Amino acid sequence: MNNIDVLKRLYNDYTKKFIGKISLSVFFSVLVAGSTALIAYLLDPAIKKIFMEKDQTLILIIPIFIIIAFTAKGLSLYFAKVIMISVGEEVKKDVQTDMMRTLIKADTQIIDDKHTGKFIGHLTNDVGMINNLISVAILNIFKDSLTLIGLLIVMFYQNWKLALLAIIMIPLASAAAKSLGKRIGKVSTEAMEKAGALHTYLIEIFKNHKIIKIFQREDYEKVRTEKSIKELMEKSKKIAVVFVRASPIMETLTGIMIAILIYYSGKLIINNELGINNFFSFLAAMMLAYQPVRSLATLNITVNQGLAAANRVLPVIDQKNKIIENEGDKLLNLTKGNIKFVNVDFNYNVNQPETLKSVNLNLSGGQMTSLVGHSGAGKSTMLNLIPRLYDRISGDILIDGTSIYKTKISSLRKYISLVSQDTTLFDDTVRSNIAYANLDATDEDIVKVAKLSFSEEFINKLPNKYDTIIGENGVRLSGGEKQRLSIARAMLKNSKIILLDEATSSLDAETESKIQKAINLLTKDRTTLVIAHRLSTILNSDKIYVIDNGSVIGEGKHEELIKNSEVYKNFYEKQIRKN
Ligand SMILES: Nc1ncnc2c1ncn2[C@@H]1O[C@H](COP(=O)(O)OP(=O)(O)O)[C@@H](O)[C@H]1O
Ligand SMILES: [Mg+2]
Repeated sequence: MNNIDVLKRLYNDYTKKFIGKISLSVFFSVLVAGSTALIAYLLDPAIKKIFMEKDQTLILIIPIFIIIAFTAKGLSLYFAKVIMISVGEEVKKDVQTDMMRTLIKADTQIIDDKHTGKFIGHLTNDVGMINNLISVAILNIFKDSLTLIGLLIVMFYQNWKLALLAIIMIPLASAAAKSLGKRIGKVSTEAMEKAGALHTYLIEIFKNHKIIKIFQREDYEKVRTEKSIKELMEKSKKIAVVFVRASPIMETLTGIMIAILIYYSGKLIINNELGINNFFSFLAAMMLAYQPVRSLATLNITVNQGLAAANRVLPVIDQKNKIIENEGDKLLNLTKGNIKFVNVDFNYNVNQPETLKSVNLNLSGGQMTSLVGHSGAGKSTMLNLIPRLYDRISGDILIDGTSIYKTKISSLRKYISLVSQDTTLFDDTVRSNIAYANLDATDEDIVKVAKLSFSEEFINKLPNKYDTIIGENGVRLSGGEKQRLSIARAMLKNSKIILLDEATSSLDAETESKIQKAINLLTKDRTTLVIAHRLSTILNSDKIYVIDNGSVIGEGKHEELIKNSEVYKNFYEKQIRKN
């Protein structure tokens, strides 16, 4: 997107609705400009009437006016700023909301592709800069240019020759400040990248803190942390320095300008072309113009930073899902629950060899089918294709004869429960984690599935039982306990299709044999696909597929496969029998 497009987008989507508030802020900016000009102007009558003509009434009236002018300026400035601060924060909230809305619905692939830290960077730093772009930039454009105009009017009123001279000098001052803007834009983009990298890195440190301890890599990580933080510091420092670099240049230029002005106005006064009262009012106006000129000249810094941030954030919001519903997609009408893979090819990444190659599976409705194979063979991938967490490249998956790619995704997922290989829980209570499958579930329902999944025994030992917060990703539970909770969650969904991806891998043999009964109950008369690693599960299955290197290389029952499939026999001897 080019900058004009970004601005249009920001205006149409986020700023237009606040146009009333912005207008009000502009109104107060007019008052700021008016009162500032009045302050400069008042020096003229003050010097003339009070100091030169010694007027007895005006000696009271003019100071009162000065108080009024300053108060008016202060209050208007306050309101103009407060209004724009609120607009900026509102815009920030809206951008964040839009971004999260996209991300919550985003394809699994999109989330896989970027580190969490990057997303957090967009949500915090980048959105903050967009806030600045809206609040600071809009406010300053109006406030400062109006104030400058007001002051120029006073300057021209007092002496047009001097005013022309000042006008010639203004671009000089702004040119210097402006050249710094570009530099800042570049450095701040670099700083954002460093900040993103730091986020990413910090998340990793917290996730892997046990690994760091075991491999005794504290020193190594300390060095990396220092490096990461230092790089960010250097960029931040650079930005700050470029910002303040504007000051000495501007001060020197102002000095030169005032010197020229005094020289020239001295000549005018000597020639009786300028009164001393006019000179002081003019000088006040010119010095008051310093702030708006400087602010306008450096405005492009804020604008560039904001635009660069918007350029990072808007594409995230606009990200298009590949897995979408099409016009004419039907509600899935599940009857028997037969699932069929027809010549399914799949790849996570176009540049890599295919992950699944022409896979054909036939899962009979109401029965249990299992996938067996070495790790990395593609079993989880096959399972994830059914709820359309990923979409196949070619081929088709049919449920009761209807292609899942021609049904509404919500109607498809409604029928599916998945217990995945890496159990994930929310930082919430045990109850909420189970109820996630069905927000309307009653306490009885929850207790029932907790009992069935043998979760109750450990839940009752937790300090607040069902109301215990189990921490980010359930860190306060063991692997087996987490798995039992996720099985309880799947049971609560009570769906027709059940996908179990090594759902009991972290359980000991005893708990597993107990829970096996529960799983049998859960999967009774349901179409079940299990990725199995234990003989008991495999023997339980109505059909077994042997998967190797993304292809099906054998199918049948255990006894048949032992006889017919060399790979299965091998696998059975090495992997299955030992547990
Ligand atoms: N999200 C992903 N992005 C890219 N490649 C992946 C992803 N998940 C798995 N893979 C790759 O796909 C292959 C099959 O993985 P997977 O289906 O998880 O195997 P299994 O469950 O049989 O152990 C592996 O080579 C793995 O590296
Ligand atoms: Mg797997």
